[in-house]
Amino acid sequence: MRLSDAPLFSEEQIARRVEALAAQIATDYAAQSLTLLIVLKGAAWFGADLVRRLPGDTLVEFIRAKSYAGDTSTGEVRFPLVPEVSLAGRHVLLIEDILDTGRTLDAVTRLVEAQAPASLRACALLDKPSRRVFPARAHYVGFEVPDQFVVGYGLDHDEHYRTLPAIYTLLPD
Ligand code: XMP
Ligand code: MG
Repeated sequence: MRLSDAPLFSEEQIARRVEALAAQIATDYAAQSLTLLIVLKGAAWFGADLVRRLPGDTLVEFIRAKSYAGDTSTGEVRFPLVPEVSLAGRHVLLIEDILDTGRTLDAVTRLVEAQAPASLRACALLDKPSRRVFPARAHYVGFEVPDQFVVGYGLDHDEHYRTLPAIYTLLPD
């Protein structure tokens, strides 16, 4: 596998989109105290950039979801890390790197909903709507992407390429 020569989304494009999403979220939650629930590892980059654009009193929690081995779904979502605090009564915004089949978001949503949050929405940097199998949807989406494997800005292929500052398509050799 090799990286596309040009990024699919440059650092500048990502930064502009993150700023616009943050402005929208700040407006929508102006009267409420918000908890970002960042889905590790992939959304750590997006979540950190987003939270720095949000007003001061945003709370941050992490959850680790694993559903992938290489570039194929294993069909099962595990949670090696869950928040130590209860999300009951909180306005929770799930932060995901990419929405693919929807399996991960569906599983995280069910886990959070069992704790009776005051509200629950999702924000995904990337969305591959053509791949959807589960009925999950994100209220906030950064970019729609075609059915290609993408890496960088937190997104990995077997743990590689996460630290690239822009998003690239992974192409067959
Ligand atoms: P599901 O199918 O659960 O997938 O919606 C969501 C998770 O799968 C990973 N994923 C990708 N990771 N490039 C990646 O680096 C991709 O193109 C891609 N598609 C799915 C990702 O971990 C996401 O949270
Ligand atoms: Mg992920």
